[in-house]
Amino acid sequence: MPKLMIIVGSVHEGRIALPIAQWVRRAAEADGRFDVDFADLAEIDLPLMDEPNHPRLRQYTKAHTKAWSKRVDDADAFVLCFPEYNYSYGPAIKNALDYLNAEWNRKPVGFVNWGGNSAGTRAQVALRPVVGALGLVITKGNVEINFPQQQLVDGRFEPNEQQAAVLQAQLDEMLALDQALRPLR
Ligand SMILES: Cc1cc2nc3c(=O)[nH]c(=O)nc-3n(C[C@H](O)[C@H](O)[C@H](O)COP(=O)(O)O)c2cc1C
Repeated sequence: MPKLMIIVGSVHEGRIALPIAQWVRRAAEADGRFDVDFADLAEIDLPLMDEPNHPRLRQYTKAHTKAWSKRVDDADAFVLCFPEYNYSYGPAIKNALDYLNAEWNRKPVGFVNWGGNSAGTRAQVALRPVVGALGLVITKGNVEINFPQQQLVDGRFEPNEQQAAVLQAQLDEMLALDQALRPLR
């Protein structure tokens, strides 16, 4: 089974990223076609990118980079769960991406975004060239949620029908892209 890494891309106390990513994990596990790795950037706790060499050289000097490199290398596909901050993506997700290079290459990525009225669309658009630079291939459909706090029930994110359908389509697409990209890796 392809290994799907779900990345929790916001790290502050009380982040809604966690219940949203936990919903994605529940859906991916219920789908049954993925081996799920839940990567919470708050737990992983990467400092701001502190390697002396360009990541494409893979000459990592820090234990945290080596561990992150191994974990991302082992993954076949990614769902990035991250909010919109000031009309763009937040720092945690960009930092985690910047640490590595070849480990991301030729692997599918899906976005799950949220925000206010814009539902995180501007964050998603801003991250597109970043993942493109790393050789990640974006799924066609992506989840966008406006005012996600309204969908918390006892701390659990409860998707509406449309959000659940888009996520399921995204997982389907992820699997198809994985099969197409795997021979190229
Ligand atoms: C620094 C900061 C900037 C924000 N900027 C935007 C924004 O430009 N557009 C938007 O829709 N929401 C914005 N928000 C609201 C966030 O989408 C909202 O706080 C959301 O809960 C953040 O996700 P998180 O709790 O997982 O970090 C901003 C929040 C913060 C903390």
